[in-house]
Amino acid sequence: MPVRMFLSSGDLVADRRFDFARDLQLKGDLVAAADLMLQATELAPGFASAWFTLADIREQLGERDAAISAFRKAQAADPEDRHGASLRLMRLGAARLADMPHGYVRALFDQYAPKFESALVDDLGYRGPALLFKAVLAARAAVRKPAFFRRAIDLGCGTGLAAAAFASHVDHFSGIDLSPRMIEKARATSLYTELEVDDLLAGLRRKADASAELVLAADAMVYVADLAAVLAETKRVLVSGGIAAFTTETHDGEGVILGEGLRYAHSADHVRKSVEAAGLNLSLLEARSARNEDNTPVPGLVAVATKS
Ligand SMILES: C[S@@+](CC[C@H](N)C(=O)[O-])C[C@H]1O[C@@H](n2cnc3c(N)ncnc32)[C@H](O)[C@@H]1O
Repeated sequence: MPVRMFLSSGDLVADRRFDFARDLQLKGDLVAAADLMLQATELAPGFASAWFTLADIREQLGERDAAISAFRKAQAADPEDRHGASLRLMRLGAARLADMPHGYVRALFDQYAPKFESALVDDLGYRGPALLFKAVLAARAAVRKPAFFRRAIDLGCGTGLAAAAFASHVDHFSGIDLSPRMIEKARATSLYTELEVDDLLAGLRRKADASAELVLAADAMVYVADLAAVLAETKRVLVSGGIAAFTTETHDGEGVILGEGLRYAHSADHVRKSVEAAGLNLSLLEARSARNEDNTPVPGLVAVATKS
Protein backbone atom coordinates (compact mmCIF):
# COMPACT_ATOMS: atom_id res chain seq x y z
CA MET A 1 0.00 0.00 0.00
CA PRO A 2 1.45 3.31 -1.05
CA VAL A 3 0.31 5.79 1.56
CA ARG A 4 1.72 6.82 4.90
CA MET A 5 -0.64 8.20 7.51
CA PHE A 6 0.25 11.48 9.22
CA LEU A 7 -1.82 12.91 12.06
CA SER A 8 -0.62 16.33 13.15
CA SER A 9 0.13 16.76 16.85
CA GLY A 10 -1.36 20.25 16.75
CA ASP A 11 2.02 21.55 17.96
CA LEU A 12 4.04 23.17 15.15
CA VAL A 13 7.40 22.55 16.81
CA ALA A 14 6.64 18.87 17.45
CA ASP A 15 5.38 18.45 13.86
CA ARG A 16 8.60 20.02 12.53
CA ARG A 17 10.71 17.75 14.66
CA PHE A 18 8.74 14.84 13.26
CA ASP A 19 9.56 16.00 9.70
CA PHE A 20 13.30 16.27 10.48
CA ALA A 21 13.26 12.83 12.10
CA ARG A 22 11.52 11.34 9.03
CA ASP A 23 14.16 12.88 6.76
CA LEU A 24 16.88 11.28 8.87
CA GLN A 25 15.05 7.95 8.82
CA LEU A 26 14.77 8.09 5.02
CA LYS A 27 18.48 8.94 4.77
CA GLY A 28 19.25 5.88 6.89
CA ASP A 29 20.51 7.73 10.00
CA LEU A 30 18.26 5.66 12.27
CA VAL A 31 19.87 6.45 15.62
CA ALA A 32 19.61 10.21 15.11
CA ALA A 33 16.07 9.77 13.71
CA ALA A 34 14.96 7.83 16.80
CA ASP A 35 16.47 10.48 19.07
CA LEU A 36 14.67 13.34 17.28
CA MET A 37 11.39 11.38 17.06
CA LEU A 38 11.55 10.74 20.81
CA GLN A 39 11.90 14.50 21.30
CA ALA A 40 8.74 15.01 19.20
CA THR A 41 6.84 12.67 21.54
CA GLU A 42 8.22 14.53 24.57
CA LEU A 43 6.89 17.81 23.14
CA ALA A 44 3.52 16.22 22.28
CA PRO A 45 2.90 13.05 24.29
CA GLY A 46 -0.33 12.27 22.39
CA PHE A 47 1.41 12.47 18.98
CA ALA A 48 0.34 9.13 17.47
CA SER A 49 2.29 9.53 14.20
CA ALA A 50 5.51 10.22 16.11
CA TRP A 51 5.04 7.22 18.40
CA PHE A 52 4.26 5.01 15.44
CA THR A 53 7.25 6.18 13.41
CA LEU A 54 9.52 5.94 16.46
CA ALA A 55 8.36 2.33 16.85
CA ASP A 56 9.04 1.72 13.18
CA ILE A 57 12.57 3.11 13.49
CA ARG A 58 13.23 1.09 16.63
CA GLU A 59 12.08 -2.03 14.81
CA GLN A 60 14.46 -1.20 11.96
CA LEU A 61 17.21 -0.85 14.60
CA GLY A 62 16.34 -4.32 15.94
CA GLU A 63 15.16 -2.90 19.29
CA ARG A 64 12.11 -5.15 19.61
CA ASP A 65 11.03 -4.31 23.17
CA ALA A 66 11.43 -0.57 22.66
CA ALA A 67 9.49 -0.86 19.37
CA ILE A 68 6.66 -2.72 21.12
CA SER A 69 6.47 -0.07 23.82
CA ALA A 70 6.26 2.74 21.21
CA PHE A 71 3.66 0.88 19.10
CA ARG A 72 1.55 0.57 22.30
CA LYS A 73 1.86 4.34 22.85
CA ALA A 74 0.79 4.93 19.23
CA GLN A 75 -2.23 2.69 19.75
CA ALA A 76 -3.18 4.49 22.96
CA ALA A 77 -2.72 7.92 21.34
CA ASP A 78 -5.18 7.10 18.55
CA PRO A 79 -8.07 4.85 19.65
CA GLU A 80 -9.08 4.39 15.99
CA ASP A 81 -5.56 3.05 15.37
CA ARG A 82 -5.38 4.62 11.92
CA HIS A 83 -1.68 3.76 11.63
CA GLY A 84 -2.34 0.07 12.31
CA ALA A 85 -0.08 -0.12 15.38
CA SER A 86 -2.05 -3.14 16.60
CA LEU A 87 -1.16 -4.98 13.38
CA ARG A 88 2.52 -4.22 13.89
CA LEU A 89 2.19 -5.58 17.45
CA MET A 90 0.63 -8.75 16.02
CA ARG A 91 3.52 -9.05 13.56
CA LEU A 92 5.98 -8.70 16.44
CA GLY A 93 4.15 -11.43 18.36
CA ALA A 94 3.18 -8.92 21.07
CA ALA A 95 -0.58 -9.15 20.48
CA ARG A 96 -2.97 -11.95 19.62
CA LEU A 97 -4.10 -12.22 16.01
CA ALA A 98 -7.36 -10.29 15.85
CA ASP A 99 -9.50 -8.43 13.36
CA MET A 100 -8.05 -5.45 11.62
CA PRO A 101 -8.77 -2.07 13.23
CA HIS A 102 -11.56 -0.53 11.18
CA GLY A 103 -9.97 2.93 11.49
CA TYR A 104 -6.83 1.58 9.82
CA VAL A 105 -8.71 -0.02 6.90
CA ARG A 106 -10.87 3.08 6.43
CA ALA A 107 -7.90 5.48 6.50
CA LEU A 108 -5.88 3.24 4.19
CA PHE A 109 -8.56 2.95 1.52
CA ASP A 110 -9.83 6.53 1.86
CA GLN A 111 -6.31 7.65 0.94
CA TYR A 112 -5.94 4.96 -1.69
CA ALA A 113 -9.35 5.50 -3.41
CA PRO A 114 -8.35 8.12 -6.03
CA LYS A 115 -5.62 5.90 -7.46
CA PHE A 116 -6.96 2.50 -6.42
CA GLU A 117 -7.90 1.14 -9.83
CA SER A 118 -4.78 2.29 -11.67
CA ALA A 119 -2.51 1.14 -8.82
CA LEU A 120 -4.17 -2.23 -8.41
CA VAL A 121 -5.18 -3.15 -11.93
CA ASP A 122 -2.32 -1.56 -13.90
CA ASP A 123 0.58 -1.85 -11.44
CA LEU A 124 -0.28 -5.07 -9.58
CA GLY A 125 -2.15 -6.91 -12.35
CA TYR A 126 -5.20 -7.28 -10.12
CA ARG A 127 -7.56 -10.02 -11.35
CA GLY A 128 -9.72 -10.89 -8.32
CA PRO A 129 -13.13 -10.12 -9.92
CA ALA A 130 -12.24 -12.03 -13.12
CA LEU A 131 -11.18 -15.05 -11.03
CA LEU A 132 -14.45 -14.97 -9.10
CA PHE A 133 -16.47 -14.65 -12.29
CA LYS A 134 -14.77 -17.65 -13.87
CA ALA A 135 -15.11 -19.70 -10.67
CA VAL A 136 -18.81 -18.89 -10.30
CA LEU A 137 -19.50 -19.82 -13.95
CA ALA A 138 -17.63 -23.13 -13.43
CA ALA A 139 -19.47 -23.92 -10.18
CA ARG A 140 -22.87 -23.23 -11.78
CA ALA A 141 -22.01 -25.23 -14.90
CA ALA A 142 -21.02 -28.19 -12.70
CA VAL A 143 -24.54 -28.32 -11.23
CA ARG A 144 -26.18 -27.42 -14.55
CA LYS A 145 -27.66 -24.19 -13.27
CA PRO A 146 -27.57 -20.85 -15.07
CA ALA A 147 -25.18 -18.26 -13.65
CA PHE A 148 -27.81 -15.54 -13.33
CA PHE A 149 -28.62 -14.02 -9.97
CA ARG A 150 -31.41 -11.71 -8.92
CA ARG A 151 -29.73 -10.25 -5.82
CA ALA A 152 -26.02 -10.20 -5.02
CA ILE A 153 -24.03 -8.73 -2.15
CA ASP A 154 -20.48 -7.46 -2.75
CA LEU A 155 -18.49 -7.53 0.51
CA GLY A 156 -15.66 -4.99 0.63
CA CYS A 157 -16.95 -3.73 -2.72
CA GLY A 158 -14.30 -1.01 -3.08
CA THR A 159 -14.74 0.98 -6.28
CA GLY A 160 -17.05 -1.63 -7.82
CA LEU A 161 -14.75 -3.84 -9.90
CA ALA A 162 -16.55 -7.08 -8.90
CA ALA A 163 -19.96 -5.63 -9.78
CA ALA A 164 -18.53 -4.63 -13.16
CA ALA A 165 -17.31 -8.19 -13.79
CA PHE A 166 -20.73 -9.66 -12.91
CA ALA A 167 -22.87 -6.81 -14.27
CA SER A 168 -24.65 -8.78 -17.00
CA HIS A 169 -25.32 -11.72 -14.64
CA VAL A 170 -26.84 -9.91 -11.64
CA ASP A 171 -30.05 -7.84 -11.46
CA HIS A 172 -29.45 -6.00 -8.15
CA PHE A 173 -26.12 -5.44 -6.47
CA SER A 174 -25.74 -4.37 -2.88
CA GLY A 175 -22.26 -3.23 -1.78
CA ILE A 176 -20.72 -2.87 1.68
CA ASP A 177 -17.37 -1.21 2.39
CA LEU A 178 -15.69 0.48 5.33
CA SER A 179 -14.23 3.29 3.24
CA PRO A 180 -16.53 6.22 2.34
CA ARG A 181 -14.18 7.28 -0.46
CA MET A 182 -14.24 3.83 -2.05
CA ILE A 183 -18.05 3.81 -1.73
CA GLU A 184 -18.18 7.21 -3.51
CA LYS A 185 -16.33 5.63 -6.43
CA ALA A 186 -18.65 2.61 -6.38
CA ARG A 187 -21.68 4.91 -6.39
CA ALA A 188 -20.37 6.70 -9.46
CA THR A 189 -20.50 3.42 -11.43
CA SER A 190 -24.31 3.19 -10.99
CA LEU A 191 -23.85 -0.59 -10.77
CA TYR A 192 -25.26 -0.86 -7.23
CA THR A 193 -28.88 -0.61 -6.12
CA GLU A 194 -27.70 -0.15 -2.55
CA LEU A 195 -24.37 0.89 -0.94
CA GLU A 196 -23.47 0.96 2.73
CA VAL A 197 -20.44 2.33 4.53
CA ASP A 198 -19.89 -0.29 7.21
CA ASP A 199 -17.91 -3.28 8.34
CA LEU A 200 -18.87 -6.17 6.08
CA LEU A 201 -19.91 -8.44 8.95
CA ALA A 202 -22.04 -5.72 10.56
CA GLY A 203 -23.61 -4.96 7.16
CA LEU A 204 -24.33 -8.64 6.50
CA ARG A 205 -25.99 -8.94 9.93
CA ARG A 206 -28.55 -6.33 8.89
CA LYS A 207 -29.57 -8.28 5.78
CA ALA A 208 -32.71 -10.40 5.93
CA ASP A 209 -32.56 -14.21 5.94
CA ALA A 210 -32.46 -15.77 2.46
CA SER A 211 -32.24 -12.39 0.74
CA ALA A 212 -29.42 -13.02 -1.79
CA GLU A 213 -28.52 -15.61 -4.41
CA LEU A 214 -24.85 -14.62 -4.55
CA VAL A 215 -22.33 -13.18 -2.08
CA LEU A 216 -18.94 -12.02 -3.39
CA ALA A 217 -15.75 -10.94 -1.63
CA ALA A 218 -12.95 -10.03 -4.06
CA ASP A 219 -9.68 -9.35 -2.24
CA ALA A 220 -11.64 -8.43 0.90
CA MET A 221 -11.05 -11.55 3.05
CA VAL A 222 -7.37 -10.52 3.18
CA TYR A 223 -8.59 -7.96 5.74
CA VAL A 224 -10.67 -10.49 7.71
CA ALA A 225 -9.09 -12.83 10.27
CA ASP A 226 -12.25 -14.70 11.26
CA LEU A 227 -13.44 -16.18 7.98
CA ALA A 228 -15.93 -18.56 9.64
CA ALA A 229 -17.91 -15.73 11.27
CA VAL A 230 -18.40 -13.96 7.93
CA LEU A 231 -19.28 -17.23 6.17
CA ALA A 232 -21.82 -18.20 8.84
CA GLU A 233 -23.61 -14.88 8.36
CA THR A 234 -23.32 -15.33 4.59
CA LYS A 235 -25.07 -18.68 4.89
CA ARG A 236 -27.99 -17.09 6.76
CA VAL A 237 -28.35 -14.41 4.09
CA LEU A 238 -28.14 -16.80 1.13
CA VAL A 239 -31.17 -18.53 -0.35
CA SER A 240 -31.05 -22.30 -0.58
CA GLY A 241 -28.82 -23.13 -3.57
CA GLY A 242 -27.18 -19.69 -3.30
CA ILE A 243 -23.43 -19.33 -3.53
CA ALA A 244 -20.59 -17.42 -1.93
CA ALA A 245 -17.38 -16.79 -3.85
CA PHE A 246 -14.24 -15.20 -2.44
CA THR A 247 -10.51 -14.86 -2.92
CA THR A 248 -7.89 -15.09 -0.19
CA GLU A 249 -4.15 -14.86 0.06
CA THR A 250 -2.68 -18.11 1.30
CA HIS A 251 0.36 -19.76 2.88
CA ASP A 252 1.67 -23.28 3.30
CA GLY A 253 1.41 -23.38 7.10
CA GLU A 254 -1.64 -23.79 9.30
CA GLY A 255 -4.55 -21.48 9.99
CA VAL A 256 -4.45 -17.76 9.41
CA ILE A 257 -1.39 -15.53 9.59
CA LEU A 258 -0.77 -11.83 9.17
CA GLY A 259 1.64 -11.51 6.25
CA GLU A 260 4.47 -9.06 5.59
CA GLY A 261 2.12 -6.78 3.68
CA LEU A 262 -0.22 -6.60 6.72
CA ARG A 263 -2.88 -8.69 5.02
CA TYR A 264 -4.15 -11.99 6.36
CA ALA A 265 -3.27 -15.20 4.56
CA HIS A 266 -5.56 -18.22 5.07
CA SER A 267 -4.27 -21.72 4.50
CA ALA A 268 -6.31 -23.95 2.17
CA ASP A 269 -7.16 -26.23 5.07
CA HIS A 270 -8.30 -23.26 7.14
CA VAL A 271 -10.60 -22.14 4.30
CA ARG A 272 -12.03 -25.66 4.03
CA LYS A 273 -12.67 -25.83 7.79
CA SER A 274 -14.16 -22.31 7.91
CA VAL A 275 -16.59 -23.15 5.09
CA GLU A 276 -17.53 -26.37 6.87
CA ALA A 277 -17.91 -24.64 10.25
CA ALA A 278 -20.28 -22.13 8.63
CA GLY A 279 -22.48 -24.97 7.35
CA LEU A 280 -21.74 -24.30 3.68
CA ASN A 281 -20.54 -26.85 1.10
CA LEU A 282 -17.27 -26.21 -0.66
CA SER A 283 -17.89 -26.43 -4.43
CA LEU A 284 -14.51 -25.22 -5.60
CA LEU A 285 -11.14 -24.36 -4.04
CA GLU A 286 -8.29 -23.59 -6.39
CA ALA A 287 -4.84 -22.07 -6.08
CA ARG A 288 -5.13 -18.78 -7.97
CA SER A 289 -3.30 -15.52 -7.47
CA ALA A 290 -5.38 -12.34 -7.50
CA ARG A 291 -2.42 -9.98 -7.87
CA ASN A 292 1.31 -9.54 -8.18
CA GLU A 293 3.88 -8.06 -5.89
CA ASP A 294 7.31 -7.20 -7.29
CA ASN A 295 6.04 -8.75 -10.54
CA THR A 296 5.51 -12.11 -8.81
CA PRO A 297 2.05 -13.63 -8.27
CA VAL A 298 1.04 -13.52 -4.60
CA PRO A 299 -0.07 -17.04 -3.54
CA GLY A 300 -3.83 -17.07 -3.34
CA LEU A 301 -7.00 -19.13 -3.40
CA VAL A 302 -10.36 -18.78 -5.02
CA ALA A 303 -13.24 -20.47 -3.23
CA VAL A 304 -16.88 -21.09 -4.06
CA ALA A 305 -19.22 -22.39 -1.36
CA THR A 306 -22.86 -23.37 -1.75
CA LYS A 307 -25.80 -23.39 0.63
CA SER A 308 -27.78 -26.63 0.40
C1 LIG B 1 -8.34 -4.57 -2.05
S1 LIG B 1 -9.86 -3.78 -1.95
C2 LIG B 1 -10.87 -4.75 -3.05
C3 LIG B 1 -12.09 -3.99 -3.52
C4 LIG B 1 -13.00 -4.71 -4.49
N1 LIG B 1 -13.62 -5.87 -3.89
C5 LIG B 1 -12.26 -5.10 -5.76
O1 LIG B 1 -12.23 -6.29 -6.09
O2 LIG B 1 -11.72 -4.20 -6.42
C6 LIG B 1 -10.47 -4.25 -0.36
C7 LIG B 1 -11.69 -3.48 0.05
O3 LIG B 1 -12.22 -4.11 1.22
C8 LIG B 1 -12.65 -3.10 2.11
N2 LIG B 1 -12.66 -3.69 3.45
C9 LIG B 1 -11.63 -4.24 4.14
N3 LIG B 1 -12.04 -4.72 5.34
C10 LIG B 1 -13.37 -4.46 5.40
C11 LIG B 1 -14.37 -4.71 6.36
N4 LIG B 1 -14.09 -5.32 7.53
N5 LIG B 1 -15.62 -4.33 6.10
C12 LIG B 1 -15.94 -3.70 4.93
N6 LIG B 1 -15.03 -3.42 3.97
C13 LIG B 1 -13.76 -3.82 4.20
C14 LIG B 1 -11.66 -1.98 1.92
O4 LIG B 1 -12.16 -0.75 2.38
C15 LIG B 1 -11.42 -2.03 0.42
O5 LIG B 1 -12.29 -1.18 -0.27
